[in-house]
Amino acid sequence: MTTSEWTRHLRPALAGLDVYDIEPVPVKARLAANELAEPWPMEVVQEVGKRVAQLELNRYPDTSGRKLRALLAQRHAVDPEAVVLGCGSDELIGFLLTALGGRPSEPSFIVVPTPTFQMYGHAARCRGIGVLEVPLTEELELDETLMHEALGVATGAALCFLARPNNPTSSLWDAAVIERLIAQHPATVFVLDEAYISYAPGATLWRQGLPDNVVYMSTLSKIGLAALRIGYLVAPPALRRPLNVVRNPYNVSATSQAIAELVLTKFDGVQKAMLTRSLAARQKLVGLLEKIPKARVFPAHANFAVVRLDPAGEAARVAEALAQRGILVKDASALPRLAGCLRVGVGTNAELDLLGKALAEVIPGYPAAAT
Ligand SMILES: Cc1ncc(COP(=O)(O)O)c(C=O)c1O
Repeated sequence: MTTSEWTRHLRPALAGLDVYDIEPVPVKARLAANELAEPWPMEVVQEVGKRVAQLELNRYPDTSGRKLRALLAQRHAVDPEAVVLGCGSDELIGFLLTALGGRPSEPSFIVVPTPTFQMYGHAARCRGIGVLEVPLTEELELDETLMHEALGVATGAALCFLARPNNPTSSLWDAAVIERLIAQHPATVFVLDEAYISYAPGATLWRQGLPDNVVYMSTLSKIGLAALRIGYLVAPPALRRPLNVVRNPYNVSATSQAIAELVLTKFDGVQKAMLTRSLAARQKLVGLLEKIPKARVFPAHANFAVVRLDPAGEAARVAEALAQRGILVKDASALPRLAGCLRVGVGTNAELDLLGKALAEVIPGYPAAAT
């Protein structure tokens, strides 16, 4: 095949980046996608159906999702103008990088602890923005000294993404360290990504009057609405206009806006009950993983747990053996600091029963009666 001449215009970085693609396969337990596993009750599904039926499919939605922004703003007691919606927080990460991508004279870079949510680094590299990765400590905590050094390289980082709780480690980083980094680096915008905060009750770093170099970000994806693809952020005043300049109008569909508004106003209680069940299921998951001989289960603050198997090569074998039984977990063992580790999502009770049975089949010495 000859290469067309125009290909020289492709961004060179793209050749070395992976496509994020997961083929949908029927599974018995989906424990690799960090979703809320609890299904919505039928009464909610029916109401959603009625609401969707009322939509005018021939009309564009509101350009910026005003009603939904107002609802989210109310929750955080902020001006609705501070709230920006995205097609998932993935899209918001893109807006932030585009807006703060720096000037041609001053190549910009971002700082991310590693391992963390892969889209921060991926989205930066797609835009030709440098990525400084700072390894977590062995205990999967932020390394304050190394973070401080990285943030101060050259003219300073444009952005620093901090997921708390973090994916894929499920760790809840020390709030005092984060506060100090924010205070010591006022020329860097810190994105506090609390996608999983519902699984760490009482731990939010959200407060009125966060410093003006902080963007607070979260998503509806982890609280039962992943299908809608809605993320949101609360931006400091000087960042609101730039983010809306780079945002495409109508970036959240009418269907998603309508369903989110309905759930947030009418089914808040149902949603809370689903999250409570999921927190109980996390206890069950941790119990199942702790029964693996010689394994170490790290503290779980999100809707998944990380377990280190011994020997390290077991992680790939166990993930594969579980997949053959229709149970999907993530083999995280190739990631920095996670040698030998699996990341296992909190499933429903039924899914976790299947996991318990499968672990007994797959892992020598695993107590057979455990479910
Ligand atoms: C820490 C973190 N932030 C953001 C996201 C993306 O969420 P969304 O579905 O809103 O794009 C994820 C998804 O797994 C995540 O782990």
